Amino acid sequence: MKITPTGEACGAHVTGVDLTQPLAESVVADIRAAWLEHHVLAFPDQAMSDDDLERFTLCFGPFGDDPFIAPIPGRKHIIAVKREADETSPIFAESWHTDWSFQEKPPAGTCLFGITIPPHGGDTHYANQHLALERMPDELRKKLEGKIAIHSARIPYAKGGVYGDEDRKTRSMDIRASDDALKAESRHPIVAKHPETGRERIYGCIGYITGFAEMEPDASMALLAELYRWQTREEFIYKHKWKPNMLVMWDNRSVLHRATGGYEGHSRLLHRTTIGAG
Ligand code: SIN
Repeated sequence: MKITPTGEACGAHVTGVDLTQPLAESVVADIRAAWLEHHVLAFPDQAMSDDDLERFTLCFGPFGDDPFIAPIPGRKHIIAVKREADETSPIFAESWHTDWSFQEKPPAGTCLFGITIPPHGGDTHYANQHLALERMPDELRKKLEGKIAIHSARIPYAKGGVYGDEDRKTRSMDIRASDDALKAESRHPIVAKHPETGRERIYGCIGYITGFAEMEPDASMALLAELYRWQTREEFIYKHKWKPNMLVMWDNRSVLHRATGGYEGHSRLLHRTTIGAG
């Protein structure tokens, strides 16, 4: 197996392994080590089926719990991230986030497999939150240290939210907004150690984070905005370009990510699983 770092803020390409076949324990251990080191791993030229995607995911933990998006027919744990060529709805997941951070035990990782990839655009961006913390000015760090962030599914997934009833009219993805999102809320320290590596990082950003505990809403928002400007600086970002038959796995505990557009008139389809926290 060959691991080639992107040379950017995070990410590596992995070749010399066949993900359509069951993996030996030692290979899984090597992939896990590379994942913890580089945070985003891209495996090109893997003609994976949905069975392969599920088997690969389960090498790294149990399936995560994926609310608000219906699984594809016949599968319980795979969702389709898709957009039709003529679709006019806003790009799904275009805001920076880390997956399902409003859960009490959010998924450790996400696997995304490229099926239909447009000829241009549709990159996924990753922002390395270890690096963002390491390079953070002391003044900002002092403001964040010890703060508990409140993460909520309300803004995106409540019926009146970003992906609510109105949005559903023009979207091909099967998003099931629900008022359960009003109750889907969890608290996580904004600066904390990565549970596997012990390396400190920032966890989450404005969007799913709606405020800080024991802080006035206006002051919370101002601090979240200041943090957002810092944690999404260009120097922390790796811009991933997709190819069909490419699998990417990322560590939700280390990076923020976002989808991008720029492929009007072309369709895009990827299958996604999450790796539960275990
Ligand atoms: C996601 O956030 O899971 C989707 C990323 C993408 O579509 O590039």
